[in-house]
Amino acid sequence: MKYDVKDLSLSKKGRLRIEWADDNMPVLNLIRARFAKEKPLTGTKVACCLHVTTETAVLMLTLKAGGADIALCASNPLSTQDDVAASLAKDYGIPVFAIKGENHKTYYGHIEAVLGYRPDLTMDDGADLVSVIHKKKGRIPLGGTEETTTGVIRLRAMEKENKLLYPIVAVNDAQTKYLFDNRYGTGQSTIDGIIRATNKLVAGTNFVICGYGWCGRGAAMRAKGLGANVIIVEVDPFKALEAVMDGFLVMPVARAAKVGDIFVTVTGDIHVLRPEHFRIMKDKAIICNSGHFNVEIDIPGLVKLSRKRRLTRDFVEEFVLADGRRIYLLGDGRLINLAAAEGHPAQVMDMSFANQALSAEFMKKNYRRLEKKVYKVPVDIDRRIAELKLVSMGIKIDRLTPEQKKYLASWEMGT
Ligand code: ADE
Repeated sequence: MKYDVKDLSLSKKGRLRIEWADDNMPVLNLIRARFAKEKPLTGTKVACCLHVTTETAVLMLTLKAGGADIALCASNPLSTQDDVAASLAKDYGIPVFAIKGENHKTYYGHIEAVLGYRPDLTMDDGADLVSVIHKKKGRIPLGGTEETTTGVIRLRAMEKENKLLYPIVAVNDAQTKYLFDNRYGTGQSTIDGIIRATNKLVAGTNFVICGYGWCGRGAAMRAKGLGANVIIVEVDPFKALEAVMDGFLVMPVARAAKVGDIFVTVTGDIHVLRPEHFRIMKDKAIICNSGHFNVEIDIPGLVKLSRKRRLTRDFVEEFVLADGRRIYLLGDGRLINLAAAEGHPAQVMDMSFANQALSAEFMKKNYRRLEKKVYKVPVDIDRRIAELKLVSMGIKIDRLTPEQKKYLASWEMGT
């Protein structure tokens, strides 16, 4: 079996940590037990391009239990947990191609390695795997799934231009994904990444969040909980209003740049923080990104403005500007929650990856009747995951009475 990981001797630690995640993923466990009996993915080759974490490992074991032949590479050069990659290769016999800190060439070499398995299905996070497949114009898979907002935006752009070559389920758009993973997962893990990297006190800081999508909402909620003065930067009037009503200050980035202590970008767009902002930031401002790609902060622009740069702590790079002010860039501008912390906790990835596993099964069953489009996760799958999660948490909910059902279905009844 081929693989490319940092160090196989890390596997023991990786195995123990995978077990920890597994213990916190009850919904995926139920799916794995059913997959082991029914083998719905028998003979299906699945190429996975995901953050190589303990939670992803549990998903890999689930797909394997379902009979799939899998190969895994990283969906970001800085998100791989090397001990997990080692354990997947050594203890579970899964071809893994991922090394934390890999350069651009190795990153794409690893995507090519996974494509060498001639996949029937792709499971992507950010759409780099799909993008390579479409640029190469080689063998086209039967179907795929996509994990994240950024990837779904890219796929929809391809669909719009009639360039998408096979059907893909947008896992991100399931309610049991974006309402929980994006909000509570990114919310907690972004703050976790900043704290692990800097060990700074968040209370009392001016904490600027660029983007008030689900990830931004989550980060804002958690920063507020830690006592920060949260400032939101937005371009969308609805989201800006929502941020105001949620109790946050809202202002343009040019104003926020002057007062912020910590900045996080979560917009999915390019150059949200750029030289005109670095020029007016306070001494010792901390800047980081939690969006999928490292384009939200104009790093080359920061480099040009700086007369000196050095790594001061793991994942903290100091840039000294001409007048002596210092700006601290975390995690090379890559998603800080996975670069400096461990990504979303298992409890939330449980639902995201339940969507992945069930969407892969759905795609295997249905690809023949699907068009080359981006599909939603079927509502019954999304709902079932929510129900199973509640059961796993020991929470019971109510049912409508027949009278209530009738009332909701009628239009004649008024006061
Ligand atoms: N994306 C964000 N957090 C993650 C995690 N823990 N595992 C895999 N993908 C993730």
